[in-house]
Amino acid sequence: MARHSIVILPGDGIGVVVLEETLRVLDAAGFQADYVQGDIGWKFWCKEGNPLPLRTLDLIARHKVALFGAITSKPNDEAKAELDPSLQGKGYSYSSPIVGLRQFFDLDICVRPCKSYKGNPLNFVRRGKGNTIEEPLIDVVIFRQNTECLYSGVEWTNPPEKVYEALMTHPKFVENFGRTPVEELSVSTRIFTKKATERILTAAFEHARRKGYLSVTVCEKPNVIRETSGLMWRLAKEIQKESFPEIKLINSNIDAQMMWLTKNPEDYGVIVAGNMFGDIVSDGFAGLIGGLGFACSAQFSSDGTAVFEPTHGSAPKYAGYKIPIVNPIAMMESACLMLDYLNENNIAARIRKAIAGVIEEGKVRTYDMMKMNGRPEVLENGAASTFQMTDAIIERLE
Ligand code: NAI
Ligand code: MG
Repeated sequence: MARHSIVILPGDGIGVVVLEETLRVLDAAGFQADYVQGDIGWKFWCKEGNPLPLRTLDLIARHKVALFGAITSKPNDEAKAELDPSLQGKGYSYSSPIVGLRQFFDLDICVRPCKSYKGNPLNFVRRGKGNTIEEPLIDVVIFRQNTECLYSGVEWTNPPEKVYEALMTHPKFVENFGRTPVEELSVSTRIFTKKATERILTAAFEHARRKGYLSVTVCEKPNVIRETSGLMWRLAKEIQKESFPEIKLINSNIDAQMMWLTKNPEDYGVIVAGNMFGDIVSDGFAGLIGGLGFACSAQFSSDGTAVFEPTHGSAPKYAGYKIPIVNPIAMMESACLMLDYLNENNIAARIRKAIAGVIEEGKVRTYDMMKMNGRPEVLENGAASTFQMTDAIIERLE
């Protein structure tokens, strides 16, 4: 087996412990890798005025694959107040290193699988016929365009003259906003490019084919947002017709999709959406399979850079616990996505099987799985610690 080299980015708060525990599982499963640690997060902002130092970007550029815990982010004014005194007043401005990473490496494809584990007490249940209780098993993979749409940062309050003039060339703008004083206008632009839209769609279709999913659902709103959602839907039809005729293509509006989420979530396979709606629909599905303790993600660029991370943040209120209580499974699942990417399919399958076994047996559960409020006492009340959950998973490895 080839030895891999992986950049690890622990970050802040619980990111550190879930990553450490995940490395323990990878190691126990026989994954052969050299890990190089990259600096990212709040400490580096406070100490150096940059939460994503250049040396970290260099490391990722060199090694291509990164496992990322989570970071703490704060609004710019709070961030400035916490800067080291020697750096204050020198023009440093805070921006999120997550967005920074995405932009620097053009990590335009975000993949968020949401698959329920049998026996997870957090699984979604619904009422069936005759007052029965049904527990549909969900297996959905969301492909979220990660760099465009409303997240591109092209926005203004009190837009400059040229922007205002350009807006005034659109009859709908004149009609609806033409009498609003310019200083009372806030505008955030929703930009889609053909290239990035084709890339996310193609990635979604290829995944469906590779993994045997029967359908790809485009989750946008093309009847109303005609240019951007419309572009995605048009391209989806073309790509399906030309290259993936065996895969069913479904058009669902984001609003209706959120309503159907609890009606028939088991009917969906691959879902693809722009940045904003992809964020919404992936959080919606994640809620059905156990929430933040289970939601994993992968991000890819066209040049082969890949970053794997749980969806959750640094959960600062749990960071200082002597014995950590948070659920490490979302991070471990993210590592499994990394193993898929590295073609370490056997190791990934063994880790997933071990996680599934622990959940199904139901003896070892972190506080979130027991629906407890997170506090140190959960450990006395039967919840497993982060370490105990990891130990149980390692013990189950075949
Ligand atoms: P969060 O995801 O850190 O925590 C929200 C709540 O979810 C926690 O209080 C906890 O109850 C639960 N939770 C999260 N992860 C869990 C786990 N592994 N096991 C069990 N329960 C878990 O989001 P929050 O509180 O909004 O943000 C905290 C900090 O994290 C902020 O500074 C925020 O900017 C940052 N953040 C970073 C992200 C990243 O690094 N990708 C993503 C989201 C937030
Ligand atoms: Mg989100």
